[in-house]
This record gives sequence, structure tokens and C-alpha cells, in this order.
Amino acid sequence: MANSQLFLPADLMSRHCLGVAATGSGKSNFLNLILKQQMMRGGGVIHIDGKNNKDAIREFLTLAKQHNRWHDVRIINIDDAAHSNTYNPLLRGDAEEITTRIMLLLQGGGKDSYFRSQAGKAVGAIIGLMRDMGLPFNFSDLNAVFSSESLLRYLLKEGPKDTESYAKFRIFFDQLHEDDKRTGMRVLNTKVFQHTFGDLTGKIASYDRGEAGRVLNAYNPEVDLLRAIKENQLVYIGLPMLSKAEVASDFAKILLSDLRTAVGQLQNIPPEERPSPTFLVLMDEFSSYAMSTLAPLFEQARSANISLFPFIQTISSLSDKDRGLSQDFAYKILGNTLSKISFGLKDPESAEMMSKMAGQALKEFVSQSYSENLGFASGDQDASMLLTTNRGRGYSKSTRVEYDAVARPEDFTNLKTGEAIYMGPSGVMRLKVPFVKLKKDGDALDFPRFRMPLVPGIGLAEKYGQFAVGSPERRG
Ligand SMILES: Nc1ncnc2c1ncn2[C@@H]1O[C@H](COP(=O)(O)OP(=O)(O)OP(=O)(O)O)[C@@H](O)[C@H]1O
Ligand SMILES: [Mg+2]
Repeated sequence: MANSQLFLPADLMSRHCLGVAATGSGKSNFLNLILKQQMMRGGGVIHIDGKNNKDAIREFLTLAKQHNRWHDVRIINIDDAAHSNTYNPLLRGDAEEITTRIMLLLQGGGKDSYFRSQAGKAVGAIIGLMRDMGLPFNFSDLNAVFSSESLLRYLLKEGPKDTESYAKFRIFFDQLHEDDKRTGMRVLNTKVFQHTFGDLTGKIASYDRGEAGRVLNAYNPEVDLLRAIKENQLVYIGLPMLSKAEVASDFAKILLSDLRTAVGQLQNIPPEERPSPTFLVLMDEFSSYAMSTLAPLFEQARSANISLFPFIQTISSLSDKDRGLSQDFAYKILGNTLSKISFGLKDPESAEMMSKMAGQALKEFVSQSYSENLGFASGDQDASMLLTTNRGRGYSKSTRVEYDAVARPEDFTNLKTGEAIYMGPSGVMRLKVPFVKLKKDGDALDFPRFRMPLVPGIGLAEKYGQFAVGSPERRG
């Protein structure tokens, strides 16, 4: 195994890479190094951090400032609206994509699939019509319309009539109603209504109110993922994984679904408008919000010049059935991440798997190779900076490497904090990650904020208030 002390291989930053790391193994420091390198070369990043706290945001801002990239920073922090830009994950995509995104909230819930599919059809009918009305909407609007028959009537009245979405909506609306036995009039079937929307309104409430509500409900938000990618922004996303695990992981799923749409749209634009250098998406605690529909994102992202960097603690977490994942998903992720980096591992199974993959990587790595490395050497005048940039080209010839000698399982469990084994197209090597010291400058969390031009939205939440008077179906 080559012993490459301070070099990060160039392909680490340009292809999907899977990171495996037990806690305390030096992952956060490594991510800071990656961020630093990306900021230095003017690239953009979406950094999904599983441990959301003020210190983490402060570090991110400090790094950005050091590289004159402060103005590119955007923060999404659903736990603390005072320290967050605004973002609305329901703006991008066609009706089907947005419907799928919303239905992610019902995945894995106790509800049986019949009710889920009923809810899915209802949401599809509503979103379809709302999309055709051409005005942006948000979680508050959804919560309102899923709670109020009056608003459904309003959509029926205001929606554009000669559309397919209107016909679908009409059918759905009729199905929600029944003949009143005494009067013969069509009345709302409250039981069906409740069954269809009850679970969804319960879930959506977490994004409609409170801190998350204030972050996520703008019609013209400060953060747009497609723009962020095109403009090489530095987006920090804090997930309150420890305090609000379910809301955090659901939100991450919704965000990645929005990202998937953005990446799809990127593929359709001329290559010269695609991000350069390669845009990075760092996904800490990936297993907590991974979903089977993400596999295609890995394929699409590559052609859009976006490199995905999921981090997990154990290999087996990728096939965790309790999270709706499968062996098939694990294989897809392992197969779609050409590079792997492992920090100190604690579970023998992951160590075993990584050792096997190292052998595999080496087999694929031709015995004669032309390699290019980008690296940073840490300087001592300013410990916070990695001063020197090296660009090295090397022609290397390796002879007969025994599988056994590549990396044994215990090599992975014996790694000390900050040590890693990297395997990728340039071979297998041991890395020692330099420590990124960050000077803290003050306590204030100062980041770019924007007063966005007012954009009118569908405004159902406001109308809900108006209709609520004497509206018997209003809940909560
Ligand atoms: N390359 C390194 N050289 C020296 N010390 C390091 C290095 N990387 C990390 N450390 C130290 O080791 C400790 C753990 O590092 P870090 O926070 O990066 O680990 P982690 O894997 O992110 O842990 P967690 O799972 O708790 O988030 C920290 O105190 C950090 O200062
Ligand atoms: Mg950490």
C-alpha cells in the first residue's frame, strides 16, 4: 500500500466517493479538509451535516471566510430560523415529482399501503391542479388544503378548467363526497377525508409551524438548489438528527428529492453551464435518510459534473430493512461510488467488506498507471491553513501485488484518528489527514442574508383562515 502522507488524490474530488467511518475516527476534520480544498478551487458544495449545532455552522463560515467565499455561503437550519436562510423544497419539479416528494413523508409509517396509495392519488390530484394554476405553494398551503373542504372547493372553482389535471381533480373531489341519505345532497364523507389526509397533515405540521415553518415556507426563498449548483454556492444544511431524528431525516429525504430534480434539470442545459469545477454534495449520516429512489441520482449526478460523497458508519446500514433499504440498494451505492475512503472502523463486518473491496480496487487498477495528485501540505506559519498546493504527476509501475498485502480487515479497525485508507481509480493508499485548525472569530453567526423580491403565491393558508369561520372540518 502506498503511503501518501499529505496528499488527497485528485479523483477523490471528481467522482462519487463512499466514506465509511466510525464515530470519533476523524471524519469531521476530513470533511473540513475537503471543504477547504473545494473552497480554494472556487467550487461549490452542499454539505448535509448530521450534527447540527452553532459550532459546526461557525466552522463552515470560518472556512469560507478564510478563502474569501463568505458571500457564497447559504445556511439551511430547520431547527433555528434565526440562523438560517429560507428554502422551499416544493417549488421545483413537475406535479409527479412534487407528489412523490410529499409522499416521502408517509413512507415507513404504520399505515397500510391501501391508504397510502389513496393519499398518493389525492395529493397527486391536488398538486396537479395547483401546478397548473401557476403559483408557487408551500407546506402551509398543503396543510391548509389537506384540512379544508372549502379550499378544495376553492381549487375546483379557480383551477383552469380545460386541463387533464382538472378532470382528475374533479374525479377525486367527487370520490370524497357521498349522497346524504336524508336530504339527497352531496356531502363530504368526513371519514374518507380523514383517512386520506389525517396522517399527512400530522406529518406536514412539522414543516408548517415553528422554526422549520419559518425556514421552509417562502414563495421566493433565498436558497434554490439548482441556482446553488450553477453558481458554486456553499450550502450548509444542518440536520437536527439528535434532537428531532424523524423530522430531520424526512426533511433530508425531501431535500434530496429536490436535488434529484435539480440534477435532472442540469442534465438538460448546455455543458458549459454545468458546474465547474465538479460540485460536491457531502452527505453525513447518509444511511439515516437514504432511500431506494436515490440510486438513479448517483448516475445522473455524474453526467452533470456533480460528485456525491455519502458518509456512513457501517456498510450494513446501507441495507437496513428498518429504513426501507435493501441489499440491492447497498450494491447500487457500492457500485456507483468509484472511490471509497475508510476511517477507523469498529465493526468487523465493515472491515471485512472494505478489505475485499480494496483487493477488488487493486485488481482493477492496472499495474502500470499514470496518475495525477492534487495535494496540500500543511504550513506552520498559520496552522489553520494548508499552504502549499502541489500538483504531481507520476508514472508508477507496481509489480505483482498479493491480494493479502492490500489491506487486511484489521488494517481498517486499527486506523487511528485521522488515518484513512483510500481506494479508487488511482489505486489503494493510506492517507494521513492533516488536522485543520480553525480559528474562531467571535461568537456571532454572521452569514449572507437576502431580502428577496415579493412573489405572490397560491396563498391557501391565508384563505384557510378566512374560510375557517364556521367551517366544521377545521382541525388543530
Ligand atoms: N487528522 C487528525 N489529526 C489529529 N487529530 C485529529 C485528526 N482528525 C481528528 N482529530 C481529533 O480527533 C477528534 C475526533 O475528530 P472528529 O471530530 O473529526 O471525528 P468524527 O469522526 O467526526 O467524530 P464524530 O463521530 O464524533 O463526529 C477531535 O478531537 C479532533 O480534534
Ligand atoms: Mg464529527
